[in-house]
Amino acid sequence: MSLAGRRIGFIGGGAMAEALAGGLIAGGVSAAQIHIAEPLAERCAQLRDRLDVAADTDYADAVRGSDLVVLAVKPDVVPTALAALRAEDLDLTSPLWISIAAGVRLETLEAGLPAKARIVRAMPNTPALIRAGATAICGNAQADASDRSDARLLFESVGFAWEADAENLLDAVTGLSGSGPAYVFLFLEALIDAGEDVGLPREAAERLAIQTVYGAAKLALDGASSPAQLREQVSSPGGTTLAGLAELDQGEFRKILARAVAAATRRSVELGEGS
Ligand SMILES: NC(=O)c1ccc[n+]([C@@H]2O[C@H](COP(=O)([O-])OP(=O)(O)OC[C@H]3O[C@@H](n4cnc5c(N)ncnc54)[C@H](OP(=O)(O)O)[C@@H]3O)[C@@H](O)[C@H]2O)c1
Repeated sequence: MSLAGRRIGFIGGGAMAEALAGGLIAGGVSAAQIHIAEPLAERCAQLRDRLDVAADTDYADAVRGSDLVVLAVKPDVVPTALAALRAEDLDLTSPLWISIAAGVRLETLEAGLPAKARIVRAMPNTPALIRAGATAICGNAQADASDRSDARLLFESVGFAWEADAENLLDAVTGLSGSGPAYVFLFLEALIDAGEDVGLPREAAERLAIQTVYGAAKLALDGASSPAQLREQVSSPGGTTLAGLAELDQGEFRKILARAVAAATRRSVELGEGS
């Protein structure tokens, strides 16, 4: 299955919209089927140049005739953007709406769209910008299996996508993969500093650490062995890795990570309550 042949509109032409449109085109959607609405004329020209898609300042054009419309504005702009669309002569029940606005709940999106609107809320993460994202999606009651499958295909064009069967799981996803890149960046910073502490030149420590995280993630993604099996394979009794792992265990590495994910999940719940 693919989204080839579907007309796809974007409200908001920022970094995420560009990444998703680029991913769709690479996945076989024709650039002629994509229409991006963006308030900055200069940015529209840039998107036209870079992707060869239609991009202009008229929001209505991105909705009219589109099968899918991606809401890709900042979360605080969502109500204004939807109000502007409601003021136009448009059939807002016809497209599938896909929102990537962090923390904006289905309830809020439903309040800004007609009662029958089919809506999927998504939580992507920053690596989506280089087509290595991890995204979770969740549909409202009106979105059927084929709508949810279309939304999954959209995010699979920029990485991995998973469908959550309850919206509150998106808070947990925010705590894990939404905030996760920052945990990994902190891990990398610490690994680089530690490499320097044991005598490596900074530049070498940086390159070795980044490549190690990348390579380990690639091995784990390969799927032949679980992360626990991969760890065991490199932990020979009396060896160097076990000595290092013992220190991490003593420092309660797992518990610290669990606390970090739980704290970010709680914060996502709190922010959602305020939206
Ligand atoms: N970047 C990520 O990795 C990431 C991860 C998870 C979720 N998200 C979510 O994705 C959404 C977009 O993020 P982003 O990083 O792409 O942000 P961004 O680069 O700031 O893009 C937002 C775009 O929307 C435009 N815009 C503002 N008001 C508008 C309006 N009323 N109608 C139409 N367009 C309007 C902005 O134009 P101006 O620049 O002229 O204001 C800007 O081009 C956000 O809601 C964010 O929470 C992003």
